[in-house]
Amino acid sequence: MNTSETNVTDFTKMDNLKSKIHSLSRDKSKIQNPKSKILMSYFRPSVDAMVGYVPGEQPLPGTNIIKLNTNENPYPPSPKAMEVLRNLDGEFLRRYPDPYANEFRRAISEALGVSFDWIIVGNGSDEILNVLIRACADLDRKVVYPSPTYVLYRTLSQIQPAQFIEIPYDEDFCLPIKNLVTANGAVTLIASPNSPSGHVVPIDDLRKLASSLSGVIAIDEAYVDFAEQSALTLVSEFENVIVLRTLSKGYSLAGLRLGFGIANPKLLKGLFKVKDSYNIDAIACAVGAAAMRDQVYKNECAQKVKASRTRLALKLKQLDFKVWNSQANFILVQSLQQTAEKLYLELKQKGILVRYFNQPGLDDKLRITVGTDNQNQILTDVLTKLNQA
Ligand SMILES: Cc1ncc(COP(=O)(O)O)c(C=O)c1O
Repeated sequence: MNTSETNVTDFTKMDNLKSKIHSLSRDKSKIQNPKSKILMSYFRPSVDAMVGYVPGEQPLPGTNIIKLNTNENPYPPSPKAMEVLRNLDGEFLRRYPDPYANEFRRAISEALGVSFDWIIVGNGSDEILNVLIRACADLDRKVVYPSPTYVLYRTLSQIQPAQFIEIPYDEDFCLPIKNLVTANGAVTLIASPNSPSGHVVPIDDLRKLASSLSGVIAIDEAYVDFAEQSALTLVSEFENVIVLRTLSKGYSLAGLRLGFGIANPKLLKGLFKVKDSYNIDAIACAVGAAAMRDQVYKNECAQKVKASRTRLALKLKQLDFKVWNSQANFILVQSLQQTAEKLYLELKQKGILVRYFNQPGLDDKLRITVGTDNQNQILTDVLTKLNQA
């Protein structure tokens, strides 16, 4: 048999094998155990059972879309942070990064006036949430949160798996303190400002909660840069409170993936054990530190977003929308003229992406990120035309 014949035969065998593997993998990831012939899954039952987090659509860079669906900042990152990025030397990347991202922690400490050892940093605040649930929750140790809120809280609990309890907010988004206390979570998660509602939870309510619970209370302040209040002082009052922040929103650095948590070192101790060893890459550490040190720029952008938010909310009310008060960089609205899904699809067709949540309680509403004034104007012009159609 000559070599080329052998190759042909081998390729045919390979093709057969590939198509077998393909048909098995199509079968809901089930594989036949060759010895016992018992049908088993590749995945743990909790992973098989869950849906998985569905992020907002991310069109390809350069696509001509007005993107108001994932609460990114419409303004560019700090020019000082971009300068650090441009000047990075390749040699800097040859080594592993600092496992504690100390340069970034120092910059946070200076900017917020909190002690260095009260700070843990993560690959986005999503990672801190993940670490928190991995460190503190399981099937006997509940994750509790008011709902609707950031969908990832459920996803992370399902992955763990941890028992999770969702306590409904009322129509006015008052914190259900009594029910949250009764649920007695090992971890209680409160987003303030909340997504998708945009409301903030009064500090006194958070204080009451913290003094009534012995588990960890995470106050997720991803949108705090657009808000009139922060619960940061609670971390020095209560050992069980951690405040989470991100550079994805106020600092226009969603692509860099940087977040951080502030809490008593006694609480951080367990989280440091669970985090990945090199969770912050060297580029993120350096650029993030420069962005943190440029508070003036961040505050200027946030002021512009807040002013645009007020104008956009007013215009949407005039266009017959119910508009929830927001202290974030997005607004939750309900059209009094047509269904949210129809409106979402019509806007998408016109090149404007907003967020539609196909879930009970939210499927009649849209969450719209505040864009530049120009983007908001295009949005409201399209909505005006759709109203008239
Ligand atoms: C309430 C809330 N927390 C946390 C995050 C995640 O932020 P990061 O990009 O830092 O992971 C988001 C993202 O949209 C959010 O809405």
